[in-house]
Amino acid sequence: MAVLVTGGAGYIGSHTVAELIDANEDVIIVDNLSQGHRQALLGGKLYVGDIRDSEFMDTVFQENEIESVIHFAAYSLVGESMQNPAKYYDNNVYGTQCLLEKMKAYGTKRIVFSSTAATYGEPQTVPIQETDRTEPTNTYGETKLAMEKMMKWFDAAHGIKYVSLRYFNAAGAHRGGKIGEDHSPETHLIPLILQVPLGKREQVAIYGDDYPTADGTCIRDYLHVSDLADAHLLALQRLRDGGESAIYNLGSGKGFSVKEMIEVARKVTGHPIPAVIEKRRAGDPAVLIASSEKAKSELNWTPKRERLEEIVESAWNWHRDHPEGYTE
Ligand code: UFG
Repeated sequence: MAVLVTGGAGYIGSHTVAELIDANEDVIIVDNLSQGHRQALLGGKLYVGDIRDSEFMDTVFQENEIESVIHFAAYSLVGESMQNPAKYYDNNVYGTQCLLEKMKAYGTKRIVFSSTAATYGEPQTVPIQETDRTEPTNTYGETKLAMEKMMKWFDAAHGIKYVSLRYFNAAGAHRGGKIGEDHSPETHLIPLILQVPLGKREQVAIYGDDYPTADGTCIRDYLHVSDLADAHLLALQRLRDGGESAIYNLGSGKGFSVKEMIEVARKVTGHPIPAVIEKRRAGDPAVLIASSEKAKSELNWTPKRERLEEIVESAWNWHRDHPEGYTE
């Protein structure tokens, strides 16, 4: 009996694969390697291919007894999703439809899904709760919400149970030092900040200092990627125990501004990290902070790496040892 991880060679996927391997799970990975990296896999059996490729997915399901799926395979760049919505609907929404159809055909009844805070859009209040309004302000968030809704209706029609995990800002790298965050192009704040002490950029840009926050810069809720990964195993356990489908936020419940993040990185790296103010990035809400009380009480989830310095330090260790990221 195996767990299929789609998109398992990506940033959050690979950290989840690492935890599954540690938990002695039999892990099958499907990744088309458009964003993922072979070297990000610390174990498991990789099938290189696309979830939309029906014959390929038949092979995966026929060669393995897949009892559950953890679904990461998706595009996740907000800016790109606004330029090219069709690309996002095709890979994210249609891809999920193809996957759910295969699960139905092969009798796989459990799926844990990689969702996002972007399903909420501009929050009405913080911390954000799962019952709050979902009104995405970008195509990426809209496709993730559509994927969640599709799972709801596949559950109603075919009894495929799902847990959707709405992540806030994933950060940091695996304790073993072998896997970390490598996106191309990189758009995320922490890796971009760390490119300065790595000598890969002169300065970091702060996208707007006129937000209604204490220092004028955007506030986000940063969570260690391995704490996120742990939540997937707990979600899987919930489904194996016969739990109903559910949606959970995953965050630390604490917010840090862009300026505060740069300051933490200065302390961790000992580098002055010059920063310049640029104009706002379209579609960025001022403040995103999660309430994760539901995940804590229902999944028994407790983040273990809560200090921001520790999170940034783990990212720094990986980037310093892998300045060019993965080589394959
Ligand atoms: N930022 C900068 N300068 C940079 C990069 C980012 O100031 O060079 C700012 C952004 O404007 C934002 C904050 O740093 O305020 C964090 O930006 P990231 O791009 O690291 O993360 P986001 O909060 O935009 O995005 C994350 C996930 C997305 C998800 C989104 C939900 O990476 O996948 O949360 O809102 F859609």
